[in-house]
Amino acid sequence: MIQFSESAKNMRSSEIRRLMSLAADPTIISFAGGMPNNSLFPIDAIDEIYSTMPLAEKQVACQYGPTQGYPPLLQSLKSYLASRGLPVDDSQSVLITTGAQQAISLMSKVLIDPQDRIVTEYPSFIGAIAAFKSYGAILKGIDMDGEGISVDGLARALEDRFLKPKMVYLNPVFQNPAGTMYSKKRKQEVLDLLLSHNEVCLLEDDPYSELYFEEKDKDLVVPLKAMASKDAPVCYVGTFAKIFGPGMRLGWLLGPRDIVDKCELAKQSMDACSSTFTQVLADEYFRRGKLAPYLAMLRPTYKRRADIMLSALESLMPAGISWTKPRGGFYVWVTLPETLDSSDVFSAAIKQGAAFVIGNAFDPEEKRNNCFRLAFSHTPEDKIEQGVRTIAQAVKQLLF
Ligand SMILES: Cc1ncc(COP(=O)(O)O)c(C=O)c1O
Repeated sequence: MIQFSESAKNMRSSEIRRLMSLAADPTIISFAGGMPNNSLFPIDAIDEIYSTMPLAEKQVACQYGPTQGYPPLLQSLKSYLASRGLPVDDSQSVLITTGAQQAISLMSKVLIDPQDRIVTEYPSFIGAIAAFKSYGAILKGIDMDGEGISVDGLARALEDRFLKPKMVYLNPVFQNPAGTMYSKKRKQEVLDLLLSHNEVCLLEDDPYSELYFEEKDKDLVVPLKAMASKDAPVCYVGTFAKIFGPGMRLGWLLGPRDIVDKCELAKQSMDACSSTFTQVLADEYFRRGKLAPYLAMLRPTYKRRADIMLSALESLMPAGISWTKPRGGFYVWVTLPETLDSSDVFSAAIKQGAAFVIGNAFDPEEKRNNCFRLAFSHTPEDKIEQGVRTIAQAVKQLLF
């Protein structure tokens, strides 16, 4: 009999995967997929870039590249990061990864030993939870309020001598799944607290911060990394998935040189390099100034979708149900009374034609299930209200 590794034993195909396969039925109005709608991709920009690219560049695009990343893209990315308050000096390094997910997995591979404790927000991103667990980490989720993770909760976890966390993983802007955004004050408090525990690494995951709905929020989406001193153990993960396309499978890791160098070593034996083809496209996408107009189209589009979802929730959900009011990103997080289980709501809703992701998927401790995530990014606009109506009916059936 084949003996799987400890790491493989920690990988589970969950109940959630089974539920999600039901949501793939095209007749279902699904709020499950945390992804852009296909109609929103910058296909014209991609066509133009590829069709006008010199032959030599197309040939390079089909070749292997350096593990750290395609050098011109690294340059473009550094300029972009500098414009976001993240200049890359000699103490820091950037690694291009195969999506943000790979950056999280690489950080897990180089930092986590079995039984190590990782602190996350409650709720937290399902892909990070899975990566940490696959390396044998034990997770502790800290509740959030309207301004971000609870500082008291985080302080207790950092000072708990039995817990002794090795890493704190946060998604401070338009969080997946909660859609929430940290206040500036909370970011500073969290940083001050973390930096007084210098042996704890902060992993900041930031896929959505470009997708703010209102220009006035631009100052609030500043990364924690941009507010931290250079020598602080803060690593920053970004992705092209939400600003270009997830199919590019490109992300990045920015952090102290020693940590990023270790991740580069780990990446060498994993996939040697991320796709040179999509890195060449991404580089031209930056250089030809395609990002700014694309974002200018996306922001009001997602705002409109969020507005439709929020007003449908407002008018259709029964009393006793609450939800977050995102100012950017893709998600609304719905909280039911504690007596209701989101798996039961899911079963009732899917029979009537609508789907979402149950809350348990996002609980690092797999305990709570009276919440669920609605993504407004992928569902056609004209189906959002009907989908919310179906879910509200399912909630009412179970409540009354
Ligand atoms: C918070 C968060 N981190 C990471 C990822 C993974 O991004 P990528 O598609 O670049 O691997 C996602 C994707 O949905 C996400 O929401």
